[in-house]
Amino acid sequence: APAVAVVVAAGSGSRLGAAVPKALVELDGVTLVRRAVDALTDAGIDEIVVTIPEGLAGEFAVALAGADGRVASVVGGATRQDSVRLGLAALTAPADAIVLVHDAARSLVPADTVRGVVAAVRDGADCVIPVIPVVDSVRRVTGPGNEVVDRADLRAVQTPQAARLRVLRDAHDLVARDGVDVTDDATVCEYAGLSVTLVPGHRDALKITEPIDLVLARAILEQRRQ
Ligand code: C5P
Repeated sequence: APAVAVVVAAGSGSRLGAAVPKALVELDGVTLVRRAVDALTDAGIDEIVVTIPEGLAGEFAVALAGADGRVASVVGGATRQDSVRLGLAALTAPADAIVLVHDAARSLVPADTVRGVVAAVRDGADCVIPVIPVVDSVRRVTGPGNEVVDRADLRAVQTPQAARLRVLRDAHDLVARDGVDVTDDATVCEYAGLSVTLVPGHRDALKITEPIDLVLARAILEQRRQ
């Protein structure tokens, strides 16, 4: 079965403080969305649908022009979850394809991380997500009080997240029908009764969100060139 992907890039990315949507922000002259698409293609992904904001088809077409492989774009929805559902619907791959859902903002995900996620689904996992340890001490706010959380038990969740295409489409339909709000696709799978398998993520797959993240991303690119 082929491995295909939805790259979600329909958010405004206002926290980055740029004049354009985050996915069109450039890192060393290449947009974040293009870097994310190329990272997946380099790891062997066969077909990619990018969800884009309304009214920016021309700008995204320029950003994605000349990308290797099959890349299409569709206008996203009001929430990330809506955008994923629209992206999944636009994929032409067979229902048993392995599908990855990836944030355009995680533009520098290493090919090994992508391959690891795909391999775990091939090996039989329902839903696979890359995770990294939490480096900060963490506290949970409980109304007026607060309490420590053992960070050894915690993992930060990244993308790409993967499942079989049929399975993820059905899970998203269920969550949409029941009106459940989620922030990632693993939660969608879990709601549909599927188990979530963790594989190692990578620091380079950071979600570029605030201006400081662009500085870090540039440093990662510089390190890769050495
Ligand atoms: O807001 P957040 O950083 O969690 O968004 C994660 C990803 O989902 C981003 O890549 C963003 O472009 C995408 N997104 C989307 N459609 C929306 C909202 C967010 O594709 N309506």
